[in-house]
Amino acid sequence: MSSVLHDNSSSTVIVAPARGFRGSVMLPGDKSISHRYALLAGFAEGTSRLTNFSTGADPHSSLGCMKAMGARVTTVGKTIEVTGTGGVLHQPKGDLDCGNSGSTMRMLAGLVAAQKGVYRFVGDESLTVRPMERIRKPLELMGARIELTDGHAPMTVHGGELTGIDFEAPIASAQVKTAVLFAGLQARGATSIAESVRTRDHSEHALRAFGATLERKDGRLRIEGGQKLRAIDATVPGDMSSAAFFLCAALLFEDSNLVLDALGMNPTRAAMLDVISAMGGVIKVLDVQETHGEIAGTIQVNRGRALVGIDIAGERAAQLIDELPVIAAIAPYTEGGVRIRDAKELRVKESDRIALVVKNLRAMGAEVVEHEDGMDIPGGQRLHGGVIDSGMDHRITMAFAIAALRAEGETAIRGAEAAAVSFPEFFTWLDELAIR
Ligand code: S3P
Repeated sequence: MSSVLHDNSSSTVIVAPARGFRGSVMLPGDKSISHRYALLAGFAEGTSRLTNFSTGADPHSSLGCMKAMGARVTTVGKTIEVTGTGGVLHQPKGDLDCGNSGSTMRMLAGLVAAQKGVYRFVGDESLTVRPMERIRKPLELMGARIELTDGHAPMTVHGGELTGIDFEAPIASAQVKTAVLFAGLQARGATSIAESVRTRDHSEHALRAFGATLERKDGRLRIEGGQKLRAIDATVPGDMSSAAFFLCAALLFEDSNLVLDALGMNPTRAAMLDVISAMGGVIKVLDVQETHGEIAGTIQVNRGRALVGIDIAGERAAQLIDELPVIAAIAPYTEGGVRIRDAKELRVKESDRIALVVKNLRAMGAEVVEHEDGMDIPGGQRLHGGVIDSGMDHRITMAFAIAALRAEGETAIRGAEAAAVSFPEFFTWLDELAIR
């Protein structure tokens, strides 16, 4: 069992080791897709019905901002209904509060950049140190004016008429791509984007679902300006990045058996399944469906004979960026160890995830070598329970709850409530699936 201790401002969850990992789960809706549906539904004409919308706090920050700009949001049973503003956002009365969500701040900046008005964005302590220059540059080239505070939020977007640009994305970021696409949708003329690494393409699918036309040709994505969006009915597939925690847990035990229903398997997010196979998991895909361009399916995962290590670098590192903390957290238990490179972006996520993974692995007695853009974690190690600093980062919290399942003794995770940013049900599900 996990038990929860509270002090004044934060909670500590105690995670006991497990003997196995078995069961079946339908995960809450994908965070990335939920953000895009929230923003585009709030912008479109008509009422969208979004089922299995993410329960995480982050996509609810996106809904909250759209509400502040005139969208109507109501919950009807398991469906969130969003009545959009028909392409004209209202001037919000106060700041747009993005909470912990970099996705909300960056992607929404693109949407409001083309609207006449002034929009001030704020966020929590973590969001206030995350880089925003990456969206300021392209959006200013299109004609918006953006004021940052030392390259960060608070951020003020002075929106207005935009002109399309040809943009070469200097970093692999789906959020930046999305900001430019959302601005391009409303700009004069066409906007094109070239990505050096193919990042998650949920925005492309979502834009098409809401009725926009965009094309990918010779490696460039191209969108015509002046397009209108109309409401959709959609069911959000389960979140692969949340699934990653349980997939890694399933690798830790010889007789594990995990079934995940309606899991999002968009190819730009499915690299995690290749990693699970490469590390010794046996995956059976039981059923696959496609809606609005997004693939969802039921999968069954068992562990094969051994848990083996892996090297992750280059394009792979970018595509697995959200899953790297949990891969690193189980690395000491592998045969052969794990080496991660080209993942410098981890340092500017909700926390410096390289520094925190290294610190917390050491707190559990692991040997690990830190690199500027990754880490080397030898395999064949035995860990003991320790005190984990989540850094109030949801993925650090959940990654070390998984590492704790194979440690000797209990592990205390400080600031464990951070899990609610993307996966509020995490500890409940963990207790159901872990055999103690
Ligand atoms: C996201 C893109 C990634 C990812 C984040 C969600 C998205 O960020 O880490 O959790 O939904 O587009 P970057 O765009 O900064 O790489």
